[in-house]
Amino acid sequence: MDKVLVAYATKYGATAEIAERIGQVLCEAGLHTDVLPADRVKDLTPYSAVVLGSAVYIGLWQKRAARFLKANEKALAERPVWLFSSGPTGEGDPVELTQGWRFPKSLQPIADRIQPRDIAVFHGNVDIDKLNFVEKGMIRNVKAQFGDFRDWGVITSWATAIADVLKEAGLAPGT
Ligand SMILES: Cc1cc2nc3c(=O)[nH]c(=O)nc-3n(C[C@H](O)[C@H](O)[C@H](O)COP(=O)(O)O)c2cc1C
Repeated sequence: MDKVLVAYATKYGATAEIAERIGQVLCEAGLHTDVLPADRVKDLTPYSAVVLGSAVYIGLWQKRAARFLKANEKALAERPVWLFSSGPTGEGDPVELTQGWRFPKSLQPIADRIQPRDIAVFHGNVDIDKLNFVEKGMIRNVKAQFGDFRDWGVITSWATAIADVLKEAGLAPGT
């Protein structure tokens, strides 16, 4: 039990790239890290800490991330956990862009029991070329912006802070 898991759920790839970046930072800090789609993780036994992220669609996490959270609640409550969402587009604070949204309401009771170290909201990427007709309409309706607003500096700092906490807690580099 000496590894860190970065699990994610993505529809169009933006969240997977954020997870990869977080994993890269943790690896560079010397922590053994697996970056995996949430639905491919069957057992948390090998992991002493977990980072879980999902893309947000209409205020909800992707089903595969929600399922992971529910299925692994007990194991997650026994480990340090960090959660993140990838969503808002546009300039400015991501939480302000979504009128104060921080986490799906339906999952909040589970998060309350797991007691994550942090729940982050990162800017996302709405790639117009990948969206279907309905999705394009929805984005225009809510006047969200198209484009890649992911802030790699913010994501890297967040991951670096996680690495610092884990190393401080004794998850030694190279173990
Ligand atoms: C139809 C649609 C609905 C969306 N709804 C939300 C939302 O409710 N809140 C939010 O912050 N972002 C929303 N987004 C933005 C996505 O969460 C963002 O593009 C995310 O980075 C996509 O991640 P993915 O490429 O991993 O799927 C929406 C995007 C689309 C296309």
